[in-house]
Amino acid sequence: MVRGEWGRDPLLPRAFSILRTVDGGCELLVKAIGRGTRLFELAQPGAPLSVLGPLGKPFAAPEPGRTDLLVAGGVGLAPLLWHAEVAAKTSCATPMHLFYGARTHEDLVLLDDIARTGVMQHLATEDGSRGLHGRVTIALEQHLATKSDRAGTTILTCGPNAMMRAVVDIARKYEVPCLVSVEGEMACGIGACLGCALPLTDGSRPFAYACVDGPVFDAARVVIP
Ligand SMILES: Cc1cc2nc3c(=O)[nH]c(=O)nc-3n(C[C@H](O)[C@H](O)[C@H](O)COP(=O)(O)OP(=O)(O)OC[C@H]3O[C@@H](n4cnc5c(N)ncnc54)[C@H](O)[C@@H]3O)c2cc1C
Ligand code: FES
Repeated sequence: MVRGEWGRDPLLPRAFSILRTVDGGCELLVKAIGRGTRLFELAQPGAPLSVLGPLGKPFAAPEPGRTDLLVAGGVGLAPLLWHAEVAAKTSCATPMHLFYGARTHEDLVLLDDIARTGVMQHLATEDGSRGLHGRVTIALEQHLATKSDRAGTTILTCGPNAMMRAVVDIARKYEVPCLVSVEGEMACGIGACLGCALPLTDGSRPFAYACVDGPVFDAARVVIP
């Protein structure tokens, strides 16, 4: 949870995924969509920020014998690139594919960083300006349809809720486990405000809280809003 020294408006910090850690700090990938994120965009180098974190639970670490299909939409790339970079730095030989979609080629960022991780890239743009013409979920489904043996395959996804709901439907259709990292609005980040509740479907309790129980969940357990 991050905020700058910009007075009382906006009052609450904004939630971000850690893109990578560097020299005791960390890098974030920020898309300006509203007042808070626009203020980050305008921040000057060296501007002080207050940071509460790291918080929550990340994607399960890469494992030998697993094939990870990473499905990213927009800034949902950040935790998945983190995951791919961790795998590239360890000796864990988890094969990885990254399905990365955006509206246009200008919204596809960090392509050189992605290439350095060695993941197989499947790009998609809605206007057809780079990669497959259409949604990233088409690329994912085409890939899964060509695989006769999907044992050990896991989908990890982060992006707009509509995209993640479509990814979860595909995961169900092909009977592949799926982990989702939800990006809903958060106010406190520490389980106090109860504003990030997500209905649970496994009957264990009515709700989970994205900030403390997630933001990564087994897709079979939660309802994505
Ligand atoms: C766990 C987590 C990780 C995240 N990681 C990143 C990241 O790495 N990079 C990044 O750029 N953003 C990330 N986000 C989203 C980011 O927190 C929001 O974009 C930010 O809070 C918006 O603040 P704002 O003041 O700019 O917009 P606001 O003025 O608060 O909102 C502007 C509009 O966007 C809508 N909105 C606000 N927050 C969200 C949201 N989270 N999702 C969809 N619509 C929203 C509002 O309803 C409103 O219509 C993450 C969110 C979560 C919960
Ligand atoms: S953001 Fe306050 S409980 Fe999760």
